[in-house]
Amino acid sequence: MRLDQETIERIKQTAQVADVIGDYVSLKKKGANLWACCPFHGEKSPSFSVSPAKGIYKCFGCGKAGDSVRFIMDIEGLGYGEALRHLAKKYNIAIQESPLTDEQLQAQNARESLYIVLNFAKNYYQNNLFQHDEGQSIGYPYFKERGFSDKTIKAFELGYSLDIWDAFTKDALKNGYSIDVLEKAGLTIRKPEENKMFDRFRSRVIFPIHNVSGKTIAFGARILRADKNQPKYLNSPETEVYHKSNILYGIYQAKNAIRSKDVCYLVEGYTDVISLYQAGIENVVASSGTSLTLEQIRLIARFTQNITVLYDGDPAGIKASLRGMDMILEEGLNVKLVVFPQGEDPDSYVQKIGSDAFVQYISDHASDFVTFKAELFLKEAGNDPFKRAELIKDMVGSISRIPDSIKRSVFFQKTASLMQIDEGLLITESNKLTLEKVKQKEKDAQRDNNRQRLQNDLPSGITLSTSTQSPSTFDDGMMSFSEEDSFGYEEFGGAPVTVLPTPEPTPLSSIVYATTLHEQECIRLLINHGTREVDPAVAPGITLMQYVLGEIDGLQFNTPIYQEMLMLCRQKFLEGTVADTQYFLSHPIAEIQSESINLVAEKHSVSEAWLSKHEIFVPTEVDKLADMAYTNILRLQKAHNEDLEDSYMKRLKESKDFEEQLLILGKLKEIKDRLIVIAKELGTVVVR
Ligand code: GTP
Ligand code: MN
Repeated sequence: MRLDQETIERIKQTAQVADVIGDYVSLKKKGANLWACCPFHGEKSPSFSVSPAKGIYKCFGCGKAGDSVRFIMDIEGLGYGEALRHLAKKYNIAIQESPLTDEQLQAQNARESLYIVLNFAKNYYQNNLFQHDEGQSIGYPYFKERGFSDKTIKAFELGYSLDIWDAFTKDALKNGYSIDVLEKAGLTIRKPEENKMFDRFRSRVIFPIHNVSGKTIAFGARILRADKNQPKYLNSPETEVYHKSNILYGIYQAKNAIRSKDVCYLVEGYTDVISLYQAGIENVVASSGTSLTLEQIRLIARFTQNITVLYDGDPAGIKASLRGMDMILEEGLNVKLVVFPQGEDPDSYVQKIGSDAFVQYISDHASDFVTFKAELFLKEAGNDPFKRAELIKDMVGSISRIPDSIKRSVFFQKTASLMQIDEGLLITESNKLTLEKVKQKEKDAQRDNNRQRLQNDLPSGITLSTSTQSPSTFDDGMMSFSEEDSFGYEEFGGAPVTVLPTPEPTPLSSIVYATTLHEQECIRLLINHGTREVDPAVAPGITLMQYVLGEIDGLQFNTPIYQEMLMLCRQKFLEGTVADTQYFLSHPIAEIQSESINLVAEKHSVSEAWLSKHEIFVPTEVDKLADMAYTNILRLQKAHNEDLEDSYMKRLKESKDFEEQLLILGKLKEIKDRLIVIAKELGTVVVR
């Protein structure tokens, strides 16, 4: 399902960021940019800015940023390809799919044909409900009895399957669908040994299950009368397009309301979703009987950070909500819980008391997890000190899962006052738990990552080689200041060169901060000005990209994100193209894209009108590009050489071999010399 590059470019060029975003929020012009209240977080005054010139948006409140494609991904909860297709549809751009390999083609066709047949089935069941005698006399009245309006039935595309063994299968075959596809879609069950095939869903009301973008991917089917020999609900099996742990029932219908209400109600069943939706509470999804999964939580997190769990008041429901709650906390989301009176579920309760009272009930009864646990277990524990201790430990266990320390401390305070226990004790207990977890994680990681880690922690260019490499063992990746490495094989008279023992990793903590800033500045210059001539007077035609990449050839950055961006620059450069501003601003990897936007966007750009009115000349970066780049290169080289110095010093201290010590001392001298040159240079270049 790949789009070719040309089509992607066309879509991006057509989908102007202001036009795309204008469909969702109302934008007001102020200076060069457009402003609105951010659609991703609740706010009263606008901090969401759109720059038509740069083709990007950025919210200075919540930090969300991107181009038009990223905006659609975030607001519609779509993947990269899906968002592009969404935009292509909006702007009537014909989609040119790039040629696929046979395998890809097969996989795509297989999935496509599943979607098509599932859509056919959905229409078929809907048609039964509204057009067929049996649907009209059995299925439709059932929904009416449950209080569903026609509008609701249509919004959820509910249907009915006839009380005939193979009615659907026959109809589908007649319409040209292959038995193979019907089986793969989970709609038809085949028993070749008996030469039989029959419909999976018979004599049931049908609940189509949609993915985020509204495609039918599976079905749930409810029996009409209680029958002990049959399950109440039958579901589609897992198929190539339906993985039940990745999907939430109702997400397609709920996503906009979840975002605008900034909370998602999580219920257990299909009918809970539908009844709440009909009552005007649209921000609701169901885990559909399975226990909540990480993927489902992440799906919700695309739209909000707040989940309120509305489960049945029976012990099973409560147990399930406790499990789900810990997972939600661990994902860094906020969770509240509401329990309904015995024997009620959200569906029955909203129908009983009406939507206003229901909303009121939720706001009165939604409790955070600490209060919830206290209320649930305190009665049972009473004054039994052992039971109380168990309960407290359990609460601390849940709090420890919260990644954010400020949130954690709020809950420690709450627990302390609820359980009348010293807050410090709770924190100690929690630290113990965390430490245990960390230790375990470390143990796991160490086992397989030991060597890799050593390598990563060393300054670039030093290879923890176990083979007998000669000169390159000392190739420290130095750049323009390095003369040819003098420690060649020859100097040792051709004797096998001692390979230095694998040193302990050098802690980089002391230098990481400064280095990170220089690395950031380097990338910032590259993505803002990479295509500009660095110094037209001195070196016409040489771009900043070419100049910088040449000067820091072989250097690796310590900060992963900048290293990754540097690699992208190098890769593009080698391919003979340029990683320019647009390339980074519309990069499909979210981290890279948002980092780029941070490095490109400026909150307060001085109004040009104001400048010309007052005849003020502000030298822009472009005017001093050469100096800025040169300074940055020097600083990077300085940091890099200091890294090297540190690691050689360490090796020197540990070395017991005289020849090796000499070798290291020579190396250190070289580094010192280079550092002196760099310092001198830095002293002569004045920037800003
Ligand atoms: P109604 O009884 O029609 O109100 O449905 P409900 O949604 O309230 O059902 P219930 O509370 O019994 O179950 C909650 C959810 O669990 C359902 O919506 C189904 O997704 C799932 N479920 C319940 N019973 C079955 C079953 O027998 N098989 C399967 N696969 N899922 C079930
Ligand atoms: Mn129910």
